[in-house]
Amino acid sequence: MDMYRRTFAEINLDNLAHNIRALQKLFPQAPFLCPMVKANAYGHGDVQLACFLETLGVQHLGVCLIEEGLLLRNFGVKAEILVFRGFDREGAEKILQYRMTPVVTTWEQIQYLEEVADDPVGIHLKFDTGMNRLGFRPEEAQKLYERLWQNKKIRVKALVTHLYNGEDAISENGDSAEQLRKLHHVSQVFKPFNIFCHALNSAGILSLLQIQQKGGGQHGTHPLLLQNWGLRPGLMIYGYNPLESKDLCDLKPVMSLKSVVNTFRHLKPGEKVSYGGTWKAQRDSVIAIVPIGYADGYHRILSNQAYALFNGARVPVVGSVCMDYLMLDVTDAVKGQDLAQLQDKQVILFGYDSHGNFLSPEELAGKAKSITWEMLTSVGERVPRVYVGSEADSLLENVGGE
Ligand SMILES: Cc1ncc(COP(=O)(O)O)c(C=O)c1O
Repeated sequence: MDMYRRTFAEINLDNLAHNIRALQKLFPQAPFLCPMVKANAYGHGDVQLACFLETLGVQHLGVCLIEEGLLLRNFGVKAEILVFRGFDREGAEKILQYRMTPVVTTWEQIQYLEEVADDPVGIHLKFDTGMNRLGFRPEEAQKLYERLWQNKKIRVKALVTHLYNGEDAISENGDSAEQLRKLHHVSQVFKPFNIFCHALNSAGILSLLQIQQKGGGQHGTHPLLLQNWGLRPGLMIYGYNPLESKDLCDLKPVMSLKSVVNTFRHLKPGEKVSYGGTWKAQRDSVIAIVPIGYADGYHRILSNQAYALFNGARVPVVGSVCMDYLMLDVTDAVKGQDLAQLQDKQVILFGYDSHGNFLSPEELAGKAKSITWEMLTSVGERVPRVYVGSEADSLLENVGGE
């Protein structure tokens, strides 16, 4: 890959394989494991990751947009692709033409599918159990059952809901528990369909794991144990645990955001850095100019807030983050060293450096008043993704369009 600016997101496929295998091993009985590869696989590259996940035995993939599913199909992805966003009549045609599975959220969508389907189509039905965003009300379950039972065009395969406060899933009295109880209740209505239910995002899955690790016993009536829930992990397959208890599962971060030092600038006390002059040198300082900016997804709000890794040390981001550049105060990190030798040396914006130091996007998210999901998905289109790991080369040879 031509890279005239050495700023890139390194995607470690061995780490992704580690995270997926951990899930497969921990939940061998799950009726459904559907890694979410929407939003360009949380910024990691959806085509490459989908192809790789298939080699790991993953049979279901979750996208938001029909467009995302089409892209995967056009690159030869064979797995069942669930489209979570609603659709109109035209969308229904595309979903069926490309053998995707619609997650149906309205009565109109049922009608569109009936109108355009030649053969019976398998669907997942989404219920709004509290998020108040998408899906049928649980009170509509009986009416839906009557509409869909022995329907010639539509086969209900699963019921779906989405946890809006998954971080509380460990509590028996929390929002998630209530949502799970509601979906379980709906599932009783749909029993003759031989369906399964899926509701667990990363926080839900890790909470279930927490219960399993405690032996399940005292949690016998916990809604997470009401049935064998299907799994829809996003964040955790990319290496992050959104819960407070970080030791539940050994997850390995998949993406590292990297750049290099373009040049060094020597500043005298009182000299300022970047737009607005928001940072002023208090001493003789060495500033590293790094070619990555907010247009690459490095949030401007991190100006004078965040750290990066350079030369084995944590160094502060100083001055305003620009569209294409940011600046680091590397005065202490380069002390006594020949700067010519450090030119072109790697800077880690998040992820691992070559010394094994780690800077987490969770830390950046905290400073940016954001969340890890947003830090990952923000990494811009113009940042090349570089795939590494023992299986990366063969993967990239095999990724091809039709
Ligand atoms: C419908 C649905 N399921 C599952 C997920 C995965 O969530 P997480 O990344 O928290 O695991 C998402 C992500 O937003 C989602 O929208």
